[in-house]
Amino acid sequence: MRRSLAILTVLTSGALTAGAVAVLAPGANAATTLGAAAAEKGRYFGTAVAAYKLSDPVYSGILDREFTSVTPENEMKWDATEPTQGTFTFTSADTIVNRAIANGQKVRGHALAWHSQQPGWAQNLSGTALRNAMVNHVTRVATHYRGKIDSWDVVNEAFADGSTGARRDSNLQRTGNDWIEVAFRAARAADPAAKLCYNDYNTDGQNAKSNAVYAMVSDFKARGVPIDCVGFQSHFNAQSPLPSDYQANLQRFADLGLDVQITELDIEGSGTTQANTYAAATRACLAVTRCNGITVWGIRDTDSWRASGTPLLFDGNGNPKAAYTAVLNTLGGTTTSPSPSQSSASPSPSVSQPPGTRSCAATVAINAWTGGFVATVKVTAGATALTGWTAAVTLPSGSAVTNTWNATASGSTATVSFTNVGYNGPVPAAGTTEFGFQGTGPAPSTTATCTAR
Ligand code: XIL
Repeated sequence: MRRSLAILTVLTSGALTAGAVAVLAPGANAATTLGAAAAEKGRYFGTAVAAYKLSDPVYSGILDREFTSVTPENEMKWDATEPTQGTFTFTSADTIVNRAIANGQKVRGHALAWHSQQPGWAQNLSGTALRNAMVNHVTRVATHYRGKIDSWDVVNEAFADGSTGARRDSNLQRTGNDWIEVAFRAARAADPAAKLCYNDYNTDGQNAKSNAVYAMVSDFKARGVPIDCVGFQSHFNAQSPLPSDYQANLQRFADLGLDVQITELDIEGSGTTQANTYAAATRACLAVTRCNGITVWGIRDTDSWRASGTPLLFDGNGNPKAAYTAVLNTLGGTTTSPSPSQSSASPSPSVSQPPGTRSCAATVAINAWTGGFVATVKVTAGATALTGWTAAVTLPSGSAVTNTWNATASGSTATVSFTNVGYNGPVPAAGTTEFGFQGTGPAPSTTATCTAR
């Protein structure tokens, strides 16, 4: 995204003393969400999103807390966006895209040209009529989202599985071998700022299929066909395990002079085995400088297209799994829960810590645009651990809070008090936690008052 946003940060009342900063424990400022941890590594952490689930507060709560990129799971596909030839329906995809932008999340567009999930009318076309329809589709959809998409999957799954290294047979392929580069040129013309990706599965390790993609990408680079990235879907299970040369394969594509992205990661399994595989996949991306980020293909196991394989990072209740912790830790982040030893070493504050010794500060960062804003508030404990906190933010008249994450808001206008939720009330001495809120109207004052408990 090339949109410029006003970023304001201010350290407000209850500012820490230099002494409090000096006692920061190693890792005390470690990120506590996938998105924040990935950001510290210069990467995004994304998920596939289904528009119809956004009204589920558990789903949208995890989405906004953990993820910094979204991919519409089905809403941008050809059948969804052009159900009748020449008639475009963007409602569901727009819902996802506009919500993501309001929350400061990137958007991966998926997918402009693909043999699957075509509308019936396209399935029945061939030759020049299909080629023209494909170019028109790429142009119209990419134009509609011009300036809003970080990366587009321009062409999806165009190569055959197995040892032939051939193109997959499809109606699009039968219009001529050049259909892929024609699609990329049309996408570049429609949205010059978006990164343009080729995306596929079973290309995660070095094999005949990935070699064929590699040859195509090398040829595109040599001939100046516009391509910026290669997406590796990374749907792993017992039949298709994480390849041992995953990192090397990502690296050889990056060495062609383009970006690589893990675009649809899911790993069937459970427990430690699944967690270790997720950690290994995460490490591979971190080890490749031009690996921009990781997208998992859904939030909770029950959201997965392969739900029976429980392949995602959150269980059906929205609780983080061992795989979640493994990914977070691999990204350099940490969960907020105090360890059992810390808990026993710090008995109930009503016994050992007079309330008056606790203090906190709040830093407010605002992303504002015409008509709305997202505020991210970082609460930092003073020299004594907190059991809870409240941060009060004053909104200008005409502004209202519409959505809050990682805190509970009292009221929505004027001075709004945000109080910790259960899991983020305890903050270790000099530690931090973050919450956020979204609103309509002018951006609020960056002045916040932090009250410690
Ligand atoms: C899947 C979706 O998750 C399902 O909801 C839908 O029924 C079928 O498509 N490769 C891709 C994705 O590029 O678009 C697919 O998504 C999964 C495989």
